[in-house]
Amino acid sequence: MKLGFIGAGEMGGAIIRGLLASGWKAADILASVHTPESANRLCNTLGIAAYTDNLRVMQAADRLFLAVKPAQMPEILAQLASAQLAPKPLISMALGWTVEKIQRVLPGWPVVRIMPNTPLALGEGVTLFEFSSQVSAQDRQEIRALFNCMGKTFEIPPALFDIATALSGSGPAFVYDFIDALASAAQAQGMEEGTARQLAVQTVLGAAKMVGKEDVSPAQLARKVATPGGCTAAGMEVLISSDFKEVVRETLAATARKAQQVAAD
Ligand SMILES: NC(=O)c1ccc[n+]([C@@H]2O[C@H](COP(=O)([O-])OP(=O)(O)OC[C@H]3O[C@@H](n4cnc5c(N)ncnc54)[C@H](OP(=O)(O)O)[C@@H]3O)[C@@H](O)[C@H]2O)c1
Repeated sequence: MKLGFIGAGEMGGAIIRGLLASGWKAADILASVHTPESANRLCNTLGIAAYTDNLRVMQAADRLFLAVKPAQMPEILAQLASAQLAPKPLISMALGWTVEKIQRVLPGWPVVRIMPNTPLALGEGVTLFEFSSQVSAQDRQEIRALFNCMGKTFEIPPALFDIATALSGSGPAFVYDFIDALASAAQAQGMEEGTARQLAVQTVLGAAKMVGKEDVSPAQLARKVATPGGCTAAGMEVLISSDFKEVVRETLAATARKAQQVAAD
C-alpha cells in the first residue's frame, strides 16, 4: 500500500511524521511538492521519496492525500481529472473544499474530506472526517485507522464541518495565543521569558488533562480552583466581566464564516 501526498508542508509534513512515528515505512510514502528545495528537504529529513512531479505521485499512490493550500486545489484537481486514472480514495484536507465541490471535478471518485490539526505529529491530534458514499466500508475503517494512531478521530456531519474545523483545525492557533497571553502577563510583572512560557505551557497541558480525566465539567473544575473570595475568583471576575466566552464564540464564528466563504468561491 503506497500513500501519496500532493503537498507536504506544515500539515502534510505533520501527517507524514505522524505516520512514520506510528510505524509506516518511509518506502511506502511518497510526496510531490512545488519546489525542488522542499522535495530535497523531505528526502533528507523524513527519508521519503519526494518529487516536483505531481503526476508521478498521482499514478503511484494507492491512496492520495491532497495537502496543498485551498487556492491550489483547482489546479491539482484539474491535473487529476486529465490524468484519467481509475478512481482511488482521495483524502483532502483543504479548507472549504467540500466533498460535493471536489466531486464536481472528479465525479464518482471516493472522496474523504478531513480536517486534521498539527498536534497529530506528536500523537495528540484531532482529525475530522466526512466520507462520500463511494468510499467503501473497508476503506473508511482503514483510512480512519491511519489517523487513530495520531490522536483522536471524529466523523462530522457536513453541516457542522466548518464549526468543527474552527474548533479543532484552527484551535491550536487560538490555544497558542492563550498560552502566549498567559506567559506575557507574567513577563510584564518581571518574570523571565523562558520560565513564564514553561509555567504557561505546563498549566495548559495539566488543565487539559484534568478535563479529559475527571468526570466533571470544565466549569465545575474551575469552581474547585476558585474559592469564593479568593485570588482565583478575583481573576475569574475579570475574565467573566470582559466576556471572554463571547470573544471565543466570535473567534470560532469568524473562522467558520471564512471556511464557508472559501467553500462558496
Ligand atoms: N497548517 C495547519 O495547521 C492546517 C490545519 C488543518 C488543515 N490544513 C490544510 O492543509 C492544507 C495545507 O496547508 P499547510 O499549512 O500545510 O500549507 P503549506 O505549509 O504552505 O504547504 C503547502 C504544500 O503544498 C505544496 N505545493 C504548493 N503548490 C503545489 C503544486 N502546484 N503542486 C504540488 N504541491 C504544491 C508546497 O510545496 P513547496 O513547499 O515546494 O512550496 C507545500 O509542500 C491546506 O489546504 C489547509 O487548509 C492546514
